[in-house]
Amino acid sequence: IRSVAVLTSGGDAPGMNAGVRAVVRAGIVAGLKMYGIQDGYQGLINGDIVPLGRRDVSNILSRGGTFLRTARCAEMMTPHGQREAVRQLYNEGIDGLIVIGGDGTMAGAQSISAQGYPVVGIPGTIDNDVYGTDTCIGVDTALNTIMEAIDKIRDTAASHSRAFLVQTMGRDSGFLAVESALISGAEMALIPENPNITVEEIAQTIANSYKRGRRHCIIVVAEGFPIPMDELTVKLDAMDLGFKARGTNLSYIQRGGTPSAFDRLIASRMGFKAIEFLTTGKFNVMTALQGRDIVPLPIPELVGKHRGFPEEYLKISNILSR
Ligand code: F6P
Repeated sequence: IRSVAVLTSGGDAPGMNAGVRAVVRAGIVAGLKMYGIQDGYQGLINGDIVPLGRRDVSNILSRGGTFLRTARCAEMMTPHGQREAVRQLYNEGIDGLIVIGGDGTMAGAQSISAQGYPVVGIPGTIDNDVYGTDTCIGVDTALNTIMEAIDKIRDTAASHSRAFLVQTMGRDSGFLAVESALISGAEMALIPENPNITVEEIAQTIANSYKRGRRHCIIVVAEGFPIPMDELTVKLDAMDLGFKARGTNLSYIQRGGTPSAFDRLIASRMGFKAIEFLTTGKFNVMTALQGRDIVPLPIPELVGKHRGFPEEYLKISNILSR
């Protein structure tokens, strides 16, 4: 392998830039010619590929978002798009590809690898839903953002004796919501993996919290929970629970901002390892954080698998928030 391209794909996550910087600089030190692909897989299919030198990735370590930009690419889910992606790489004389993103991005990597092309994935998504890795680039920063937001919401919730529903991202995963609830002292996390919780049960939790003498009540609602947060808030507000109810959707704020120390650390380590894996013939693997190590996890072992939420965290959260 003499030349390698890197792209970021799917929802952006803080620390993706740190990952690109690590890939480019480690690649250059390994004697490779490095390229950046703009706008994710869409840019690859369109041939938006630029050479990247050491200085091109200066001053991005501390910046949120992704300077290569990203996109959601429906074409990459079709056999035609997948063939086109590989054709562009061969056209440019590029021998290997590193992709940074979530499970959709890894599925794209798999389709490229199936055509015999060397690829390595790096998990980057705030959803923390990628199977086989303890965490992904961006999760820690998003958790810090959510934690700060809920701390602020608690001030106003306590001042008005209100129950607040706070919606977090995560698509069809409750991981981010459960971790958010634990670190924010929330009374409850409503997640897609526990879809049968009723409005009455939620109301009971709020009423019990009022009866125990609490001045406020925080409930984290994952975006994938079947009852929409707004609908739930209106229903709860109309009930006689002690607390009136309000809702806040933290939305895209969770995806932005300066990456935390931890996200810069894992992004830098994973970027470095991705080059090591490619140059030592470990293809079609993802840089997975397992314990303290970053290991090459075969992408076919993780694509399409739903990563369960940490049940123990939910249990601890429920006990501690009483
Ligand atoms: O995958 C990251 C994520 O932020 C999810 O939590 C959310 O469901 C989705 O992306 C939003 O996607 P978009 O940026 O396309 O609106």
